Amino acid sequence: MEHIITFLHVVIAIMNFSRTNGTFCSLQGEPVYPQLSKEGDITIGAIFLFHSKWQIADLSYSVRPPPVKCTGLDFRAFQFSQTMIYAIEEINNSSSLLPGVSLGYKIYDSCSSVAMGVRVAMALVSGNENSDLNEPCTKPTEVQAIIGETYSSASMAIANSVGPLGISHYSTCECLSDKRKYPSFLRTIPSDYFQSRALAEMVKYFGWTWVGAIRTDDAYGNNGMAAFTEAAKQLGICLEYSLPFYTTYSEEKVLRIIQQIKSSTSRVIVGFLHMWDMEMLVQVFFKHNITGYQWVGTEAWIINPGVAKLDKNNIVQGAIGLAIPKTTITGLKEFILDVHPLKSAGNAAFTEFWEEMFQCTFTMKNESKYKTVCTGSEKLSELENAFTDMSLMPIFSNVYKGIYAVAHTLHGLLGCIQSCPIKKQSDPFTFLKHLKMVRFQTKDGEDVFFNENGDPPAKYDIINWQRTKENQYEFVNIGHYDSSFSPNDRLLINTASIVWAQNSKDVPRSVCSESCPPGTRKAVQKGKPICCFDCIPCAEGEISNMTDSIKCKQCYQDYWSNPHRDECVKKEIEFLSYEETMGILLTAVSIIGALTTIIITIIFFKYKDTPIVKANNSELSFLLLFSLTLCFLCSLTFIGRPSEWSCMLRHTMFGIIFVLCISCVLGKTIVVLMAFRATLPGSNVMKWFGPPQQRLSVLAFTLIQVLICVIWLATSPPFPFKNLKRYKEKILLECSLGSNVGFWAVLGYIGLLALLCFILAFLARKLPDNFNEAKFITFSMLIFCAVWITFIPAYISSPGKFTVAVEIFAILASGFGLLFCIFLPKCYIIILKPEKNTKKQMMGKVPAK
Ligand SMILES: *[C@@H]1O[C@H](CO)[C@@H](O)[C@H](O)[C@H]1NC(C)=O
Ligand SMILES: *[C@@H]1O[C@H](CO)[C@@H](O)[C@H](O)[C@H]1NC(C)=O
Ligand SMILES: *[C@@H]1O[C@H](CO)[C@@H](O)[C@H](O)[C@H]1NC(C)=O
Ligand SMILES: *[C@@H]1O[C@H](CO)[C@@H](O)[C@H](O)[C@H]1NC(C)=O
Ligand SMILES: *[C@@H]1O[C@H](CO)[C@@H](O)[C@H](O)[C@H]1NC(C)=O
Repeated sequence: MEHIITFLHVVIAIMNFSRTNGTFCSLQGEPVYPQLSKEGDITIGAIFLFHSKWQIADLSYSVRPPPVKCTGLDFRAFQFSQTMIYAIEEINNSSSLLPGVSLGYKIYDSCSSVAMGVRVAMALVSGNENSDLNEPCTKPTEVQAIIGETYSSASMAIANSVGPLGISHYSTCECLSDKRKYPSFLRTIPSDYFQSRALAEMVKYFGWTWVGAIRTDDAYGNNGMAAFTEAAKQLGICLEYSLPFYTTYSEEKVLRIIQQIKSSTSRVIVGFLHMWDMEMLVQVFFKHNITGYQWVGTEAWIINPGVAKLDKNNIVQGAIGLAIPKTTITGLKEFILDVHPLKSAGNAAFTEFWEEMFQCTFTMKNESKYKTVCTGSEKLSELENAFTDMSLMPIFSNVYKGIYAVAHTLHGLLGCIQSCPIKKQSDPFTFLKHLKMVRFQTKDGEDVFFNENGDPPAKYDIINWQRTKENQYEFVNIGHYDSSFSPNDRLLINTASIVWAQNSKDVPRSVCSESCPPGTRKAVQKGKPICCFDCIPCAEGEISNMTDSIKCKQCYQDYWSNPHRDECVKKEIEFLSYEETMGILLTAVSIIGALTTIIITIIFFKYKDTPIVKANNSELSFLLLFSLTLCFLCSLTFIGRPSEWSCMLRHTMFGIIFVLCISCVLGKTIVVLMAFRATLPGSNVMKWFGPPQQRLSVLAFTLIQVLICVIWLATSPPFPFKNLKRYKEKILLECSLGSNVGFWAVLGYIGLLALLCFILAFLARKLPDNFNEAKFITFSMLIFCAVWITFIPAYISSPGKFTVAVEIFAILASGFGLLFCIFLPKCYIIILKPEKNTKKQMMGKVPAK
């Protein structure tokens, strides 16, 4: 391959030189003649592959390069030629397109040799069949445009050497779209760029991310595969292997390819192959018994009956691929099959064609291949071979469109209206400029135009190889691809109608690693392609809700991942509610507390005239009972969802009510102290601390707390607060204190009063009163202080809603402490020991007044 290219470069260099220097116009060597030709006002050239092989005819020949002998007649070139002749005749006959201008043609054979292709292209340009070194290159180009070459490699060489003329019907190489290199190349077949892209999109569509590839080792295969690889990479498809293949490869090389395919893990093979390479591969695969692969093919072989015939072992069964859409050109088939007019266009070629077609010979010679004599009246209709097969109709249509593009361009350039004022070829550069802008519809309604790179829009049919009942392959159309649509709509596939490799109804799997389910993310395995990965579960608080996520997403602040890690769910909000056990328990206890207090109040009220009640300062007692009831009830404000109101209420209510309680107790203690002094002779202390003073002091103490609370609420009141930091997976709804100083001031004031009360009660405990309350008050204050001292560390360290529970517990405990210590003994006497509840008893141990 390499030396052919080098040789070509030399050829091109010579020709470039020749054109600039203007000394000679053709290559050295044997003269070349057109296979078929007809004169006309304007001639259109064509280069087709009439022969698929060539050999050097005579090695002793002194002229270099030596003459070549072409062998292996290919009927397809005749089909292309017939199509071209048909289009030209149709235009010739038409009264609207190029009226009065007759088009001629010259069709050459490139003999499957790039060098030969360049030579015939030169001949077409110069009209110089007899290569005469000395003839100056002064004539204008001979043909207006050249249809061809068939294959990309040859097209590249020709486009490089010939200049503004080529329109190919079959060269798909993406490289030819490069208008800096091939400014004068156009085509009526879409570029491989689109095909590669479409193939990659199709592979992606079926979820195959791990595929192998085989390509023809030439410009077509290499460039096509490069474009495919690029597109595949963008779409996240990995190639496990990408192997070159060529019909002339040594057996050893082919064996290596086979080994590689056998040892691969991917189940899909993308074949960027010419049909003869594919034909050969099918045979190689058959020899090595390799079956079961899902083939994906290019338009070069996907509708090729030759490959289908050779595939005896279902190697390519179920293949899918892109084909140029089926098109019909009315009347073309009949025209192609009527070969007799060919005779007038090229006798020699026609004779060869006829002999090959009917396997007979016109002139019996010793070296003749066939032994029967042709009669000339053999019937084509009785034959079924490559020539009568019309499956290449889309390519014929490309030839047809090429000719019409030339005609339409000429029509405009020559200023044809009723008739054409000029009937001569136009300047090649002007012609090219107009050719690129031409836009028309064929008689069968197909829109023809070129983009800025000289490429037509890409439309493909998607073909699936299915076995018929007769064990023949049928190329079933299962979808469509159109590059002019938006990326999401380009591919249209009816998956249900596909029959896959091994006659399966399910889409084959071909992946390196199974896809990662939601809740996990992909982690590429070290040193492997990106399609091979492990699935790693998302961390807490992170999710992935798609398959094959690359990253896990962090949930928003208020959200947390669910156990499957595939959804962010709202975080649970935690607070001490009435519904949970702890809430219910605390509520019950506080209500029991309140009821107990009320019952005691009722008992006291009922026995309000008994000495024990009277002796103990009934007014303060009732006030204390009332504030204790409130105290039990105020713990309820701590339960339930914190709201703005409940937050403000809870601490202030509690603070004020508690101060009310303590100041009542304090009042009682002072009264006890005073009462003792009052019993001493000459004292009238009672006057100083009579009921009005008692009321006033309770009010004063309470007002101070009210003032503290008002200041707290006015400056920075408590508010409901979503604590996101305490727990990761749930939100703690709590009351923020607003101002810590406020909170601790309220508590501190209560503590201060309690301490004062405790000290006074402690002093009074030994006083000889028959029913000295001071003992009980000391005891209750002891409980009270103990509760609140233990409360502080517990409050600070307990988690979440337990902080609130601890606070409620402290309130209830100190409430019960006061209630039981101060009132229970009296109730005991009132109800169970009424005999003790007499004035006498009360006074008994008291020193006499
Ligand atoms: C075109 O038509 C003219 C006369 O109508 C005829 O002489 C000529 O052979 C035709 N050319 C082709 C290519 O059919
Ligand atoms: C062109 O016209 C000639 C003579 O009228 C006819 O024989 C031939 O079939 C026509 N060709 C086409 C392609 O219509
Ligand atoms: C080909 O391989 C298949 C299984 O892969 C096997 O059943 C069959 O016998 C093989 N045929 C030959 C000719 O080796
Ligand atoms: C043709 O074959 C005959 C015998 O069949 C032989 O005598 C003759 O020499 C051969 N001619 C050539 C040109 O080979
Ligand atoms: C995944 O989550 C994003 C937002 O986080 C959402 O837009 C998208 O629709 C979700 N996808 C699926 C498949 O649920």
